[in-house]
Amino acid sequence: MSTVIRNGTIVTADLTYKADVLIEDGRIAAIGTGLVGDEVLDATGCYVMPGGIDPHTHLEMPFMGTYSSDDFEIGTRAALAGGTTMVVDFALPSPGQGLMDALKMWDNKSTRANCDYSFHMAITWWGEQVFDEMAEVVGRGITTFKHFMAYKGALMVNDDELFASFRRCADLGAIPMVHAENGDVVAELSARLLAEGNTGPEAHAYSRPSQVEGEATNRAIMIADMAGVPLYVVHTSCEEAHEAIRRARMNGKRVWGEPLIQHLTLDESEYFDKDWDHAARRVMSPPFRNKKHQDSLWAGLSGGTLSCVATDHCAFSTEQKRYGVGDFTKIPNGTGGLEDRMPMLWTYGVGTGRLTMNEFVAVTSTNIAKILNMYPTKGAVLVGADADLVVWDPEARKTISATSQQSGIDYNVFEGKEVKGLPRYTLSRGLVSVAEGKVCTQEGHGRFVARKPGEEAVGRALSTWKALTAPRPVERSGIPASGV
Ligand code: URP
Ligand code: ZN
Ligand code: ZN
Ligand code: ZN
Repeated sequence: MSTVIRNGTIVTADLTYKADVLIEDGRIAAIGTGLVGDEVLDATGCYVMPGGIDPHTHLEMPFMGTYSSDDFEIGTRAALAGGTTMVVDFALPSPGQGLMDALKMWDNKSTRANCDYSFHMAITWWGEQVFDEMAEVVGRGITTFKHFMAYKGALMVNDDELFASFRRCADLGAIPMVHAENGDVVAELSARLLAEGNTGPEAHAYSRPSQVEGEATNRAIMIADMAGVPLYVVHTSCEEAHEAIRRARMNGKRVWGEPLIQHLTLDESEYFDKDWDHAARRVMSPPFRNKKHQDSLWAGLSGGTLSCVATDHCAFSTEQKRYGVGDFTKIPNGTGGLEDRMPMLWTYGVGTGRLTMNEFVAVTSTNIAKILNMYPTKGAVLVGADADLVVWDPEARKTISATSQQSGIDYNVFEGKEVKGLPRYTLSRGLVSVAEGKVCTQEGHGRFVARKPGEEAVGRALSTWKALTAPRPVERSGIPASGV
């Protein structure tokens, strides 16, 4: 059966034009005028855009003594409801666990996905087994490796491990990623705050000032440069980290930064709410920050120094958050956002003039598709591309509320926010999964997207440059006799 999207305006990362889109066998078969299909979706007054890609989710992830509560079925349903048609989740080996073993667990969890997905692999410890299995992981189409510079005593890796893993990534044509916070300083500040009686959720923010992020981001950038690899910095939340990324890019380094929709639109005042639950529900790392940092992130998106907007969707119920009553370090870190990323970014970005529609598409879809070497199968409206599309109604409105969300948790950090701009239709490889606001997803429809290493232009360019500038001995005509 074929489907035609009629009367819409196509918006991509670089073009805006009126045309119909014909879909056959899950792919875009034609773009033009007067196209005919078995099923017609009316896009009058709407923009037809590549579906969103969220490069940073944690679905059903074991973390801080519990599991994030939205699984692949719920998470991908929430994604589609908000116009996101692909997620990239983190396979997370527990320290000592093999990478392939962890991958098996993530393969099992993801069979229920409603939309396409891929994985990053986390490097949570270092050893010969990890070194060896990294090649197998790349062979399975997972070409990005995440490193936690925080969560000391749990997931954190040290600088020698970072350097070794980054060098391995360079050899494999893979891209390292970092959660950049100085875990040693965070641990020290946390212990001191607790000892002084600062036990509430506001202390989470005190324990992670922007300097810990700025320092770690800069350190990771320099280590990546010495290892000769590009670097992707997840959840960039502050000016100091953005400054390090900006400087690196201006110096020719291949570094990408990823702000979250939460950091762009919510600020640190949330942690000072008198209601413990309200504040704890917003505990995530890095924490929300002030307007100075938010302005920096918005400027980075329009100026091109920050590349992708993600959610870091890692949802915990209020009951789970209450594990940290009396000790803020035990509040599970993470917030939801999958359903809200696109409408919130449209409303607060395009709706305010901070972003153009084309920039919106770039930072929600196309840029990450290129970075992860999936473009133009994903992130594009082109003949032959997967029909992962969103028909976006710029006039549709709603007030975000936990009572009507897909996520299974009992609150929403964006509760009460009015958004203008919502999907009229969301299509996952041609399957209409949201129609006129109604969710009609198909469990198990999502497929794993394997990616290829090294072939993306940036990796090749960087390894060519590194080979040209590698240390080599000076060839001399004569060697003086050694002195006595
Ligand atoms: O607080 C957060 N961000 N939780 C999820 C795990 C991580 O650090 O990305
Ligand atoms: Zn993180
Ligand atoms: Zn509240
Ligand atoms: Zn994360």
